[in-house]
Amino acid sequence: VKGGFASFMDKEIHDQPKAVADTLLGRTDPRGALVLDELRIPEATLRSIDKIIVIACGTAAYSGHVAKYAIEHWCRIPVEVELAHEFRYRDPIVGPRTLVVAISQSGETMDTLMAVRHAREQGASVLAICNTHGSTIPRESDAVLYTHAGPEVAVASTKAFLAQVAACYLLGLYLAQLRGTKFPDELREILEDLHALPDKIQRVLDDEEAVRHVAQKMADEESFLFLGRHVGYPVALEGALKLKEIAYIHAEGFAAGELKHGPIALVDEGQPVFVIVPSPRGRDQLHAKVVSNIQEVRARGARTLVIAEDGDEAVVPYADVVFRVPQTPSLLAPLVAVVPLQIFACALATAKGLDVDQPRNLAKSVTVE
Ligand code: M6R
Repeated sequence: VKGGFASFMDKEIHDQPKAVADTLLGRTDPRGALVLDELRIPEATLRSIDKIIVIACGTAAYSGHVAKYAIEHWCRIPVEVELAHEFRYRDPIVGPRTLVVAISQSGETMDTLMAVRHAREQGASVLAICNTHGSTIPRESDAVLYTHAGPEVAVASTKAFLAQVAACYLLGLYLAQLRGTKFPDELREILEDLHALPDKIQRVLDDEEAVRHVAQKMADEESFLFLGRHVGYPVALEGALKLKEIAYIHAEGFAAGELKHGPIALVDEGQPVFVIVPSPRGRDQLHAKVVSNIQEVRARGARTLVIAEDGDEAVVPYADVVFRVPQTPSLLAPLVAVVPLQIFACALATAKGLDVDQPRNLAKSVTVE
């Protein structure tokens, strides 16, 4: 069942090129326009929405966090991301022009289900992004966009995360197409970039030995920090969650810009810090800012583990280790940048002799509130 891998998590990490390719499959017509047949919310409703709220928990919420950056950029619709258990217990502003997107691998997470019910009671349309056919959340939603990651067995979510992010991109591009916020040739270009991702993910997997080797040597560390900006921020949060969950190591993800507002006090001699570096080809200042964040932590004694694009030489002087990922447009980069972090957590937990598929105190789907 594990296909020759030591754990389901390891297998599922290697399933990721296919999980993303299958999620993208069959969602464009011969002219290259997006068709999301399953999206049974009337086009008029989708044209009139003035706000999107993503509700989800854990890793699924981080995929929503990535979606926020992409959907706001492509569609100019405000997107809020909220943990489902928080959403329900405040007084969220939701109405008929709100699209609530509920993301869940299992489709059975009670916190997310209760938030779906609450949103529908307030008159919102609810779209589920889900990996499990016929599960409760899609059944109780107005529409569903299925991810096609295949069954995910390991408690730590990996391929479902990548498939969720891919589905969120499809949703964003579809809304941009429908609402005319991007020209058709711009949309086609982004879709081509998206379709190039499965091969790029495979290239990261082909280099996994380098990541494993470093992870195995760090099995006795007590704490890791993860820094990222823009879409690198949710990637940092996800990298930290993976380590906590399966390796039982204290790990925290931060927005890199937040460092000087407190977290940098944590950095002392030898502290391992992962930094997710954006593309140097982006048109903004992000790359330079993150490189200076690496310098800041290094100057305080941190050991820096840097995720950077092929050809990005600017990081080299400040990195103790560089894990390379293929060049990818900024908004799509989480699909490659998160993979070394998953491999790292899996290899480190395995080196500690832990059961990576069934970490203590956790269940695959959390069906209680
Ligand atoms: O099945 P769901 O996607 O609704 O599950 C949500 C979270 O419980 C889940 O992503 C959890 O955080 C994972 N164990 C993370 O690896």
